Amino acid sequence: MSKIAIYPGSFDPVTLGHISVLERASRLFDEVYLLIVHNPQKQSKFDLATRLEMAQQAVAEKGLTSSCIVQIMNQGLLATAAKRMGAEAIVKGFRNSADIDYEMPMAQVNEDLSGIQTIFLPADDAFGEISSSLVKEVFSLGGDVSKYVSESVLRKMQEERK
Ligand code: PNS
Repeated sequence: MSKIAIYPGSFDPVTLGHISVLERASRLFDEVYLLIVHNPQKQSKFDLATRLEMAQQAVAEKGLTSSCIVQIMNQGLLATAAKRMGAEAIVKGFRNSADIDYEMPMAQVNEDLSGIQTIFLPADDAFGEISSSLVKEVFSLGGDVSKYVSESVLRKMQEERK
């Protein structure tokens, strides 16, 4: 039986840090679903369809399509979706202690609701401190973000700016 994990988040947009975590998760599980989730607590820059396209292209660019599937989850509880999908784990990336403080309550509630544990994976050092928010801020002020996002994501960001 396939070992399945889900990797949920806003991915607004997906960064090379996210892709690094996804690649690491794909070494541990047969299938990893990167779930693009609407988070009402965040004002998103890109709509779900655009984020889906960006993430699909970024996954393809890194050659991860055989084990990683990108989907949108736009309603309901993550715990319910995780159980329905037969996930053995919820994967989250972490960069620093602030991320752990933010993630631990969700990990606990998700486990209470579904019995599914969250595992935290760091990104490669090169992408250790990147966030979607920083990428958006630097890009909007004219900075070069080509080190932080895949080529296809950068192209889409440039198109959306026009
Ligand atoms: O990248 P983000 O925005 O920090 O990801 C947070 C996200 C989307 C994973 C979280 O808000 C979530 O799981 N939302 C789905 C609804 C849900 O299950 N909420 C209870 C979480 S314990």
